[in-house]
Amino acid sequence: MKPMNCRKITASTQLCAIIGNPIGHSLSPLVHNAAFRHLGLDYVFVAFRVDRLQEAVRGIAALGLKGISVTIPHKVEVMACLDEIEPVARRIGAVNTIVNRDGKLVGYNTDWNGAMRALQDKIELQGKTAVVLGAGGAARAIAFGLKEKGAEPVILNRTVSKAEELASGLTCRFGGLELIDKLSFDLVINATSVGMSPDADRTPLNRTVLKNVLVFDTVYNPLKTRLIREAEENGCATVTGLEMFVNQAALQFELWTGQTAPLDIMKQVTARELA
Ligand code: ATR
Repeated sequence: MKPMNCRKITASTQLCAIIGNPIGHSLSPLVHNAAFRHLGLDYVFVAFRVDRLQEAVRGIAALGLKGISVTIPHKVEVMACLDEIEPVARRIGAVNTIVNRDGKLVGYNTDWNGAMRALQDKIELQGKTAVVLGAGGAARAIAFGLKEKGAEPVILNRTVSKAEELASGLTCRFGGLELIDKLSFDLVINATSVGMSPDADRTPLNRTVLKNVLVFDTVYNPLKTRLIREAEENGCATVTGLEMFVNQAALQFELWTGQTAPLDIMKQVTARELA
């Protein structure tokens, strides 16, 4: 057995955690502990597999945990358990981050801005047409972010009624996945789970539409999805799910600690783990 990498935990160590189910493959403990260690902060991060959400959230407040990352399937339901929800998270309709402010639990969403930061490293979003594939939680956060940054989202989903519902809240176009053949666009974002391991041989798009566009895949396992590989082969610029994951984690880190997140370190440890 490998020796545990234990550092000094004292009575003043602050605890952060992720709650979700399943949780066994979460990269959040790795990425946040690396960041805490890098900055020498007296924080530790652990993972809790949670079924009984309300009780878990009451426990967070009672035990005084500093920060919580919320993942599938709790991002929507958790909103009813909090003292306050930041307006942007309320508009998106999902919370992925909780901050304990002197006993008051405040909900945030860092997914949307994590995705926008990842995109803005590669493209100016203002005025661009962005096709969003999917209409679930990830698609909601991204479509909201695109609107916020002055881009025009077009929502395409396998179940068209869900695309319509999301599009009506944002006042944008929508349709089925096949509509992509008829659209002119600047970037396309996969916010479905298609291409995720173990179905890594799948792609949500026919590669013929990947010409002179930026391609962003929110799937980060595998690191290089078939969609990203085919986009690169067609000469397209790409943004991987790793960039979004790390950026949303960095924003969480900053909310919990008040310090600038060591983005490069966070990217390095995540990339190494996924490779
Ligand atoms: P998340 O919160 O990660 O976005 P989700 O809310 O379960 O997860 O949404 C998953 C998205 O992937 C949905 O848009 C789903 O399409 P449907 O609304 O039609 O279910 C999409 N999706 C999942 N599997 C798919 C597949 N095989 N082909 C096309 N779309 C798929």
